[in-house]
Amino acid sequence: MKKVCKVFAAAVCAVAPVATCAAAAGVTVTPRFDRVDTALTIPAEIYGQFAEHLGTCIYGGLWVGEDSPVPNTDGYRTDVLEALRELRVPVMRWPGGCFADEYHWTDGIGPRHQRPRMVNTNWGGTVEDNSFGTHEFFNLCELIGCEPYLSGNVGSGTVEELAKWVEYITAEDGPMAARRKANGREKPWRLKYLGVGNESWGCGGSFTPEAYANEYRRYQTYCRDFGSNRLYKIASGASDYDYNWTDVLMRNARDHMRGLSLHYYTVPGWTGSKGSATDFSDDDHYWTMGKCLEIEDVIARHDSIMTVYDPDRRVALIVDEWGTWWDQEPGTVPGHLYQQNTMRDALVAALSLNVFHRHTDRVRMANIAQIANVLQSMILTRGDRMVLTPTYYVFKMYAPHQGATVVPVDIDSPERIVRGGRTVPTVSATASRKDGMLTVTLSNIDLDKPVDVSIPLSGIKARLESGEILTAADIRDYNDFGQPERVTLRPYDGARLKDGKLSLSLPAKSVVSLRVRL
Ligand code: AHR
Repeated sequence: MKKVCKVFAAAVCAVAPVATCAAAAGVTVTPRFDRVDTALTIPAEIYGQFAEHLGTCIYGGLWVGEDSPVPNTDGYRTDVLEALRELRVPVMRWPGGCFADEYHWTDGIGPRHQRPRMVNTNWGGTVEDNSFGTHEFFNLCELIGCEPYLSGNVGSGTVEELAKWVEYITAEDGPMAARRKANGREKPWRLKYLGVGNESWGCGGSFTPEAYANEYRRYQTYCRDFGSNRLYKIASGASDYDYNWTDVLMRNARDHMRGLSLHYYTVPGWTGSKGSATDFSDDDHYWTMGKCLEIEDVIARHDSIMTVYDPDRRVALIVDEWGTWWDQEPGTVPGHLYQQNTMRDALVAALSLNVFHRHTDRVRMANIAQIANVLQSMILTRGDRMVLTPTYYVFKMYAPHQGATVVPVDIDSPERIVRGGRTVPTVSATASRKDGMLTVTLSNIDLDKPVDVSIPLSGIKARLESGEILTAADIRDYNDFGQPERVTLRPYDGARLKDGKLSLSLPAKSVVSLRVRL
């Protein structure tokens, strides 16, 4: 039975901060081993990243060049490489975003000093020198050990241009392979994920869905499988609530795609202020949790439309942009989308990943925006210094879920009504099983109240092996260059396994992960 903490009329909630529960009663999180579907694993690609030529994501964030005083490995920041390896990044999307539809890949190959420059019109009018191009991206993926996910230019490119890019990257022999070899790369790279355009309804060409569906069909026709390489083609999908886009694309082009994308940002709106990343009220925090959790309804509705055309679930929903979007930090370059990252962002990451876990029968990849120095990033850099964000730590904590079998959970969480009238559970959880280990990850979004959680494991031989916690004194806490470890992972020993039941007190505003040997 659900315990609703506080029930405000929606109209009241819209203007009044929501009060807290009188008492945080106990919550039971029941792993449903009886409902495990061994075919339903959590694709590692749910933990995908996104790196765009935007602000200092690439330049300064990932790439500094071989001559930089910043310690680097062949031009890549050594500290960032190590941090990303630790994160077990499965896939990285590049070069955009909106940038992708203005990017001409031939500008980014050959000797760096000869590469043409361009104006990055989408992002602050910054001059792009193309020193990070195809070779730099694919070599980075090899260094990190992740799959590349290429975003092709449909908006301002040509079919020939995209077809030749695929050939340049993946062909063993032939004219494009010869050009690649002349630029220093003998063997082809592997390219699985190919996006055909980005936000084609907007910065990617302002297409109608019907027109884009036709363009998609045409472009993808000429993106060939060379040698043993097999492309997994992804059509540019809807933003948020644009269900018509999904309907038209599925109706007109489903047989030509393996994936259809979706972009969903936790953002207060697209006009005016989006609010500060660090200076927000408790009411803003709860609203953020509600907006973030709304992605579940959005996914379910897109899924239901896709299911009409694709009942066998062959076409995946690829959430290739998601995360928080706040006002950029005061004093930073306009258009560079540099934002700080607090414990609130960490909770958005945890809740979103839980949602993706619940929809792995359709959602097979997700790429948080973005990997460094832009929006809800993993990493912030300044000169030779690097800070790992609270969101980074959530991804690290969740890494054992990659490739694991979903264990559904029932939760009788308290709920609260947030601004806008939405009801959100204050406790969320996800569980998975892999190599004899059960991983249970729990979040409490309540700002004040810890909650007693019990996790029945009766009838199962289990041993609690370890626990980790991410929490903060204040929800507004973040890591910065002066204080890089204010919000960081710490061992958690507050759980007990006794009489077939795991018990713990889940602190307010925390994410806790427990590893149990089965
Ligand atoms: O991630 C920032 C931008 O958001 C991307 O370039 C675009 O696709 C989206 O609108």
